[in-house]
Amino acid sequence: MVQLSQAVTAAILAIGVFAHPGGNVNKEILRRQAHLDYPERRTVQSCKRDLIESGWVREQHRRREARLHDIRVAAGFAKPGELVRRDVGEVEEEYGVEASCTLDPEATEGPYWVVGELVRQNLLTGEKGAITHLDINVVDTSTCKPVTDAYLEMWGSNSTGVYTGVQARGNGDGGPSSLVSNALRGLQPTSANGTATFITVIPGHYVGRTNHLHTIVHHGATLLPNNTISGGTISHVGQFYIEQNFLNQVEKTAPYNTNTQKHTTNAQDFLFNMGKQGGDDPVMKISLIGSKIEDGLYATIDVGVNPKARRNPAPVNMWTTSGGKPYPNSPWTGYPDTCKNCGFGGRPPTI
Ligand SMILES: *[C@@H]1O[C@H](CO)[C@@H](O)[C@H](O)[C@H]1NC(C)=O
Ligand SMILES: *[C@@H]1O[C@H](CO)[C@@H](O)[C@H](O)[C@H]1NC(C)=O
Ligand SMILES: *[C@@H]1O[C@H](CO)[C@@H](O)[C@H](O)[C@H]1NC(C)=O
Repeated sequence: MVQLSQAVTAAILAIGVFAHPGGNVNKEILRRQAHLDYPERRTVQSCKRDLIESGWVREQHRRREARLHDIRVAAGFAKPGELVRRDVGEVEEEYGVEASCTLDPEATEGPYWVVGELVRQNLLTGEKGAITHLDINVVDTSTCKPVTDAYLEMWGSNSTGVYTGVQARGNGDGGPSSLVSNALRGLQPTSANGTATFITVIPGHYVGRTNHLHTIVHHGATLLPNNTISGGTISHVGQFYIEQNFLNQVEKTAPYNTNTQKHTTNAQDFLFNMGKQGGDDPVMKISLIGSKIEDGLYATIDVGVNPKARRNPAPVNMWTTSGGKPYPNSPWTGYPDTCKNCGFGGRPPTI
């Protein structure tokens, strides 16, 4: 039994009273609090010295600088010889400090996780929006070394705030059109440096939540012939966010500006605020590829995991060649109205 702080208890009660539109985040808050309370919790920050001394921070900074430059060259916004590098001493000093993009947030998988997605780098499948090259480093916080043999799973809503592969009242207009698509969902192996890269869009907002991307880190999974994974364990379930001022600019571009769902800012999002606690920073560092958002974006973040940790997130659906199909006995089935994870119906929270 985890002791809940008065603030958390008050927040849960307040949310219970106002009823989270499209569901209830009590369980998610409790899980995040349990993670923050865990005495052996370690963040990427606790590995800062090792990561700098081993040269990893410097190497990764230089690799990312070079990759962004390559993307700019490929898109016609820079010339091959033109890369201006930033002082690495300064980068090392800032590493692990607020806003330098490290995190170890344990958050909820939410009601829209679909298992069985494809191993692929480009997740666009026709979706429009602020196209983003994501570069995610996974660090083992128990050894302070990169995690080189994991699969990182990524999913987010489309630019008007609808998830593919699911149908639910809280998912856009609640219609079935998105069930048949696997856009903006997929997995990538972490490489020799612990890096997984994707091409996706900045997610749109939807009722009750600020814009966010979901991630799950899988260990020991087997790659199947049809390019999906099976088995293994999950050490980490998290969410990535976008800095609010930048997000406001994205929301002014098309098709984000056609989203009719009510907007929740980072500051109004309880899960965002909890994600920021305990020295964690779940906000991605984002650079423009050209001169404006429409030219594309490059986003980086480092994720600290303990590969031996075991999480048991619950999928709502599974991806099949004929679209999303219900996952047997999912506690999210019926979300946000009738599911097992839909709220606690006035009962006091327990863990
Ligand atoms: C790992 O990082 C080093 C140094 O930046 C780089 O030379 C190498 O290509 C990277 N390897 C992979 C597989 O990304
Ligand atoms: C997002 O997905 C929904 C459901 O499939 C679709 O109606 C909407 O047009 C999509 N948004 C964009 C910008 O394509
Ligand atoms: C991939 O293969 C597995 C094992 O045969 C199967 O269960 C799954 O439905 C397949 N997925 C897709 C998308 O083809």
